[in-house]
Amino acid sequence: MKLGRMNHIGVATPDLDASIAFYRDVMGATDITEPFVLESQKVRVCFVNTPGENGPNGEPTAGTQVELLQPTEADSAVGKWLDKNPLGGQHHVCYEVPDIHEAKAWFEGLGKRVLGEPRIGAHGTLIFFVHPRDMGGQLTEIMETPKEAH
Ligand code: CO
Repeated sequence: MKLGRMNHIGVATPDLDASIAFYRDVMGATDITEPFVLESQKVRVCFVNTPGENGPNGEPTAGTQVELLQPTEADSAVGKWLDKNPLGGQHHVCYEVPDIHEAKAWFEGLGKRVLGEPRIGAHGTLIFFVHPRDMGGQLTEIMETPKEAH
């Protein structure tokens, strides 16, 4: 298992538009993507881009994102999570790996519960989740590093 960069922190919200306004007006975010619906996870999603460190020539690099998630159906994984956490808040963390299938085999070999087969996530690359009870209480998303990032 080769741990890559932390790609994003998933934050669930009952009101995506209100959360976008919060990150813009309270947190000072200036780069927030247009929301879109991710049917496979029954969520409306957008990303708050935080700046990374400057590159060798002072150019900005990509920082970690906050993935804002609003369920499109109450009867969905994020919808049920919001029932227990009505204000919303941190839902998962997502780490990149170079090879999604190798990572899945690694976690399964350690007896960790991988939730479903790798599927296309919000960044257009394969992802899977590992059960929070096997991960110190943290729902963990594993995502294959986007190829254009290399
Ligand atoms: Co995510």
